[in-house]
Amino acid sequence: MAALLQDLQPVNLQPVQSEPCDLPPQDGKIHLLLCATGSVATIKIPNIVEAFSKHNNVSIRLIFTECAKNFLQGQSSEQPSLQTIGDSPNVDGIYFDEDEWRDPWVQGNKILHIELRRWDIMVVAPLSANTLAKITQGWSDNLLLSVVRAWDTTGQLDPICDTPGLNRYHDDWGVQNGGWFEVLQPMEKELACGDVGGGAMKDWREIVAVIENRLGLTSGMIV
Ligand SMILES: Cc1cc2nc3c(=O)[nH]c(=O)nc-3n(C[C@H](O)[C@H](O)[C@H](O)COP(=O)(O)O)c2cc1C
Repeated sequence: MAALLQDLQPVNLQPVQSEPCDLPPQDGKIHLLLCATGSVATIKIPNIVEAFSKHNNVSIRLIFTECAKNFLQGQSSEQPSLQTIGDSPNVDGIYFDEDEWRDPWVQGNKILHIELRRWDIMVVAPLSANTLAKITQGWSDNLLLSVVRAWDTTGQLDPICDTPGLNRYHDDWGVQNGGWFEVLQPMEKELACGDVGGGAMKDWREIVAVIENRLGLTSGMIV
């Protein structure tokens, strides 16, 4: 049966602040922008969020691409819903592409991706081959890519990207652009498709440890 127009409810389960001014908030916290793309490793986002719950000075906001949303719809305990993730005490917002265009833009209004570029640190984990390719070409046709493109590279903290499909070219790209884009090497494991290969996202615990290290937080792991 064809879907009716009224069935197409916005997927945004946790509306963003209607006035995204003064972001990040001046609340004395460290502001982590955790982003996910359409890779199976998006199911590790809840683990990463949970791991940061021990740092009560870390506020997390999430960006999901359209594809990434499909991996966290409450399919299983390992794949809770976006609503459940949004209810985590350390998550202060989840953003989707439609949040950029929630209201017709009026001159003087803040622009979401421009506000988010000021976050303390941006982590894309996992980074799909598609988004990685787009980043290397300067594409900015969704919210995540617009934030990357607009990122303040003069800030003290740099974004981290983790990719399950990294190759040498992508590594070089970060260097060519002043080294502000740090790529965490993928690891070898049995992939979701059953193949064994070197394209898996680094273990989420290691990603957490790297973020903690970059943010100067105490970590149980050495990176
Ligand atoms: C079930 C499923 C699993 C996928 N897993 C991956 C993956 O692990 N890595 C990847 O690069 N692409 C994966 N893809 C393909 C991406 O979802 C696809 O390229 C998509 O366009 C990515 O969009 P995004 O980069 O905007 O999130 C997968 C697709 C499906 C349907």
